Amino acid sequence: MRRSTAIAKLALVLAAAALSSGFFVVAHAHARQAAVQPARASCWPRERDALLAFKQGINDTNDMLVSWQAEKGAPHHDCCLWAGVACSNKTGHVTKLDIAGTALVGQISPSLLSLEHLEYLDLSDTSLHGPSGRVFPEFLCSLHNLRHLDLSNTLFSGRVPAQLANLSKLEFLRLSNTLFSGILPPQLGNLSDLRHLDLGFMENIHTPADISWLTNLHLLEYVDMSGINLSTADVFHVANTIPSLKALILINCSLPNANQTLTHLNLTKLEQLHLSNNYLGHPIETCWFWNATSIKVLGLDETNLYGPFPTELGGMTSLQILSFSHNGNSATLTVDLKHLCDLQVLELDESLAFGNITEFVSKLPQCSSNELFYLSLTDNNIIGTLPDMMGHLNSLEVLILSNNSITGAIPSGLRNFTSLKILELSSNQLTGQIPMLPRSLASLGISMNCLSGPLPLDFGGPNLRGLTLSSNYLTGHVPRAMCESNLVALDLSNNLFEGEFPWCSSLPSMEFLLLSNNNFSGNFPSWLQNCSSLVFLDLGVNKFYGRLPAWIGELVNLRFLQLNHNMFYGDIPVSILNLILLQHFSLASNNISGSVPSSLSKLIAMTLEQPPRLDPYYWLDGDTDILSVVMKQQELKYGTYAVNEMVGIDLSLNHLTGGIPDEITSLKRLLNLNLSWNHLSGKIPVKIGAMKSLESLDLSRNKLSGEIPVSLSDLTYLSSLDLSYDNLAGRIPIGRQLDTLYTENPSIYNGNIGLCGPPLKKSCLGNNTPEHANNQQGSENGYDPVLFFYFGLAAGFVAGLWVVFCALLFKRAWRTVYFRLFDKLHDNVYVFAIVTWGRITSRATAS
Ligand SMILES: *[C@@H]1O[C@H](CO)[C@@H](O)[C@H](O)[C@H]1NC(C)=O
Ligand SMILES: *[C@@H]1O[C@H](CO)[C@@H](O)[C@H](O)[C@H]1NC(C)=O
Ligand SMILES: *[C@@H]1O[C@H](CO)[C@@H](O)[C@H](O)[C@H]1NC(C)=O
Ligand SMILES: *[C@@H]1O[C@H](CO)[C@@H](O)[C@H](O)[C@H]1NC(C)=O
Ligand SMILES: *[C@@H]1O[C@H](CO)[C@@H](O)[C@H](O)[C@H]1NC(C)=O
Ligand SMILES: *[C@@H]1O[C@H](CO)[C@@H](O)[C@H](O)[C@H]1NC(C)=O
Ligand SMILES: *[C@@H]1O[C@H](CO)[C@@H](O)[C@H](O)[C@H]1NC(C)=O
Ligand SMILES: *[C@@H]1O[C@H](CO)[C@@H](O)[C@H](O)[C@H]1NC(C)=O
Ligand SMILES: *[C@@H]1O[C@H](CO)[C@@H](O)[C@H](O)[C@H]1NC(C)=O
Ligand SMILES: *[C@@H]1O[C@H](CO)[C@@H](O)[C@H](O)[C@H]1NC(C)=O
Ligand SMILES: *[C@@H]1O[C@H](CO)[C@@H](O)[C@H](O)[C@H]1NC(C)=O
Ligand SMILES: *[C@@H]1O[C@H](CO)[C@@H](O)[C@H](O)[C@H]1NC(C)=O
Repeated sequence: MRRSTAIAKLALVLAAAALSSGFFVVAHAHARQAAVQPARASCWPRERDALLAFKQGINDTNDMLVSWQAEKGAPHHDCCLWAGVACSNKTGHVTKLDIAGTALVGQISPSLLSLEHLEYLDLSDTSLHGPSGRVFPEFLCSLHNLRHLDLSNTLFSGRVPAQLANLSKLEFLRLSNTLFSGILPPQLGNLSDLRHLDLGFMENIHTPADISWLTNLHLLEYVDMSGINLSTADVFHVANTIPSLKALILINCSLPNANQTLTHLNLTKLEQLHLSNNYLGHPIETCWFWNATSIKVLGLDETNLYGPFPTELGGMTSLQILSFSHNGNSATLTVDLKHLCDLQVLELDESLAFGNITEFVSKLPQCSSNELFYLSLTDNNIIGTLPDMMGHLNSLEVLILSNNSITGAIPSGLRNFTSLKILELSSNQLTGQIPMLPRSLASLGISMNCLSGPLPLDFGGPNLRGLTLSSNYLTGHVPRAMCESNLVALDLSNNLFEGEFPWCSSLPSMEFLLLSNNNFSGNFPSWLQNCSSLVFLDLGVNKFYGRLPAWIGELVNLRFLQLNHNMFYGDIPVSILNLILLQHFSLASNNISGSVPSSLSKLIAMTLEQPPRLDPYYWLDGDTDILSVVMKQQELKYGTYAVNEMVGIDLSLNHLTGGIPDEITSLKRLLNLNLSWNHLSGKIPVKIGAMKSLESLDLSRNKLSGEIPVSLSDLTYLSSLDLSYDNLAGRIPIGRQLDTLYTENPSIYNGNIGLCGPPLKKSCLGNNTPEHANNQQGSENGYDPVLFFYFGLAAGFVAGLWVVFCALLFKRAWRTVYFRLFDKLHDNVYVFAIVTWGRITSRATAS
């Protein structure tokens, strides 16, 4: 989880960079459309008609083809000037049709066959289909002048058409991320001009593939067969017969090993080798590729390779990216990397058996101009202290060392790292004070260490978006300089901070503010009124006091509001009912008086069955718990993803009076309701059984009277109940898991003198029991309440898993966004990021 968060953060940073350099896909598309030739030879009528016929079959709701106009005299009568169309300067024939990324929907007209001179056809990222549905329209295989064909990210399915082999001039073929199925046709070996072949992630190709036909492609430079089962293909021997190869991408191909002895290494031009997600399971040093010194990008995540890295690694001077993550902490890296002057990315998460950070750092590249900008070593049992002299690493933009055993202080030399954007040191044993850090930082995570002392006075910086300092021993006031940052997420919880939080007039982007478990004091921070983006506010377990402001109802994005264990007093502001997204609200243990607001059904997020989900928050540390809830007599902690599951209201330990409003029963999503230790009177709402999701209900220690509603036994998920020390009377409803709850905790009805009937020993005098007959019958019919109870728990558990699964699904969308941003940039780093990102998301969705 942490790794994907880090990658996501990097994605954000890169995306921002891409935006500022104008590489956004739309801008890109427009630029492409503008760059057509001057109207020297205007287009041929026959070809214009063909294009117009093509447009006819298409639903151009976004006006992507608006420049395709038929009328004589229209500004764009010349089809060579149309968006996505290009013609030959000499002959005026249409040679290029590129509608990639337009998301056009519709049918490809056979009229395209009139474009006999077409050399370049890019239909990627569209939803086009052929005359017979999603089956690929084979007539496109008659466009025999095609050199470039891109069908990636389309909906075409059916067999991979062998007729593609008719396109004998083809140099570029991309079918990745399509739904084609069946075997790969060996006729592809007839495409002898092919240089670029991308068959990656064709999700429906399952059968083990024979790829011996690849040996016929003597000009091939780029091959991606990720996701295709190559367990029987002897792929490295095949690849070694293609000396022109520059990129070999074989992610998740069921490769059995990579320890072949290649008698002669032909692959002297190889620049990219991706073997991630193949369970090779042999020593790292027996891999065949350590002699391939031309390699720039080497991806070996989740390969189960183990043992020491060979010394040859130190001689791979072309290496730019080495990714060796999630290999199960059984590798060691003691090779000297001093001469890898081009190294940009080094990622070794959860792969090393041991290491000493002092020694590790001393072996990193030491060149006059270092390129290393991404170094990630999480979950590696690394010991030692961060040396103060790390000047050779000052090109770093991302430094991630979380979850190791690094001791000592954070070196003050880090301040000189003026490019550093992401610094993650959480879960180590760092001590001492937090030094001055570079103002370039966008995200800083140092939670779960032993840092102490106050923050530096000018802590912050205009670029800071995410700051997680939770669970340390930090003291003093929060410096005012923090207000000059651009924080989205701030987590200072579980420290020893004190005093008033500074008055930050301008933190409009703040979404997550976590201050719990400190000694903060003062009124409810009034500057929060400007933070209309606030989603998550936790002021719990501090010394805040005063009334709750009515403007709290203006923070309409609030979902989690945790104010427990402070000294707030006065009424609950009725405006709180404006918070239609609110899903968790705790005021436990304050001095709140007055009554519970009645129109509770306005809290829509607690009533809906499928409320909007909170997006994963990239600016918080993915492994930190961000919400602590007391429920079912225990403290439950929720991390950034699981927190979506928490829906609850806790008003316990206050001075509330009046009744429990009947409308509370409309909160069908509520898992936790705790109103205990107040002065509430009146009856328990009769329809309490409508709160179907309730798992924990505590109404104890109030002045509630009347009978316990029979509907209580409808709460099939209830696993914790406390109704003790009220003035309840009459017969106790029985059946279902109420019996189990009593068996587990016989005190749940204590202190209610009027209660009677089973399970209590005290029998009821009257005969007012007909409504219970059904339930009793249920039990007599062999109904096993214990079994039912566990069934309820299991169902809740499965629902929880589903929720987590959804959070991961969401990230798939990120992959698409990311793909679109960088897909067309031929820069290794971005290609790597896409590949890595794709791998993470596919793994996430698969689990
Ligand atoms: C075109 O798209 C619109 C909106 O998606 C839809 O209502 C319409 O039916 C589509 N027309 C055709 C011909 O597919
Ligand atoms: C066609 O003209 C454009 C613009 O003048 C030029 O960039 C391009 O190289 C020319 N193409 C050929 C094949 O001559
Ligand atoms: C492909 O070529 C074969 C023989 O070269 C021919 O019979 C066939 O019609 C062609 N298919 C298409 C779709 O052009
Ligand atoms: C592919 O090449 C083989 C000979 O290598 C030939 O027999 C076959 O007809 C060709 N197939 C196509 C579709 O051109
Ligand atoms: C790949 O094919 C081999 C041989 O048929 C098979 O044993 C293996 O399970 C397949 N791998 C996957 C992931 O389906
Ligand atoms: C190296 O490539 C050449 C040309 O394709 C091929 O003939 C030769 O067999 C290859 N060597 C090995 C060891 O595969
Ligand atoms: C290659 O590794 C496999 C384990 O994946 C092992 O069984 C095999 O003996 C190794 N072969 C060589 C030549 O080292
Ligand atoms: C790799 O290099 C070593 C020594 O540098 C040599 O003995 C070995 O034959 C080479 N392997 C290949 C496949 O070229
Ligand atoms: C921390 O790293 C160790 C391996 O060094 C791993 O077993 C553990 O699960 C990691 N903890 C977290 C919270 O990721
Ligand atoms: C780490 O390595 C340095 C330099 O070799 C050494 O001084 C230090 O004692 C080592 N740290 C630990 C905890 O072994
Ligand atoms: C930081 O940079 C300054 C000026 O460039 C230099 O004087 C100082 O020694 C550097 N500090 C460290 C710890 O490298
Ligand atoms: C790898 O491929 C198999 C099918 O061959 C698929 O079930 C699995 O989810 C893929 N795993 C990853 C991590 O992509």
